[in-house]
Amino acid sequence: MNILFMGPPGAGKGTQAERIVNTFGVPHISTGDAFRLAMKQGTPLGQKAKEYVDQGLLVPDDVTNGIVRERLLQDDCEKGFLLDGFPRTLAQAEALDGMLAEMGRRIDHVINLKVDRSLLLARLTGRRICKACGSTYHVLFNPPQQEGVCDKCGGELYQRSDDTEEKVGTRLDEYISKTAPLLAYYEGKGLLLEVDGEKEIDTVTSDIVSRLKGQS
Ligand code: AP5
Ligand code: ZN
Repeated sequence: MNILFMGPPGAGKGTQAERIVNTFGVPHISTGDAFRLAMKQGTPLGQKAKEYVDQGLLVPDDVTNGIVRERLLQDDCEKGFLLDGFPRTLAQAEALDGMLAEMGRRIDHVINLKVDRSLLLARLTGRRICKACGSTYHVLFNPPQQEGVCDKCGGELYQRSDDTEEKVGTRLDEYISKTAPLLAYYEGKGLLLEVDGEKEIDTVTSDIVSRLKGQS
């Protein structure tokens, strides 16, 4: 199954993707994670991405499209994929359509996680991530058993540099002006499935699985 996850920053795309990929046996492809890894490694891609990510702005389309194309050509994507955080502009959506057409494939479903803007700031400023395995927590809504320590691997938890109040504001503005218009694009293609992302994490997971399996 070829799935896209959409929704504003903090809607729960990464949290839910981690869970859903196990159910459907497909790789989780997050452009945000790819940029953060490249930034940590200090590669040319990472240096380029850093100029934008650190300000809460979208990375230019040509850079982003290139990394997605490369990733989709890898063998593990043959069984399907879950794209999280891509596409985020109309130009990216059209580029993705072109890549998939060349590969003789298509998008099966687009999940849109709906969360009101008023909740997003609290979600993002309280987010903590494991340095070792990438698992996501929240200091209030999904706390680890021991403060600052990952339940799954014992790794140290950290806060993303773009999860400050100021940068979250810029990211939300970018989402509204550039990404939200894509919902109409996918609705027009009959691919959009809306899911209430304000419910508890486990409930959202089961709602997504039901929608993808066509039970509701
Ligand atoms: P990216 O990493 O994709 O960030 P984002 O879209 O801003 O999304 P987030 O990762 O912040 O949020 P999420 O929806 O995954 O929420 P999460 O599950 O963590 O992109 C980062 C940057 O990279 C961009 O700003 C841009 O610069 C660049 N970039 C990436 N892709 C790009 C592209 N295609 N084009 C150009 N540039 C690109 O949840 C958030 C918190 O809430 C967590 O703490 C979690 O525990 C908690 N939570 C989750 N669900 C619930 C729930 N149901 N109830 C209570 N708490 C919850
Ligand atoms: Zn961990």
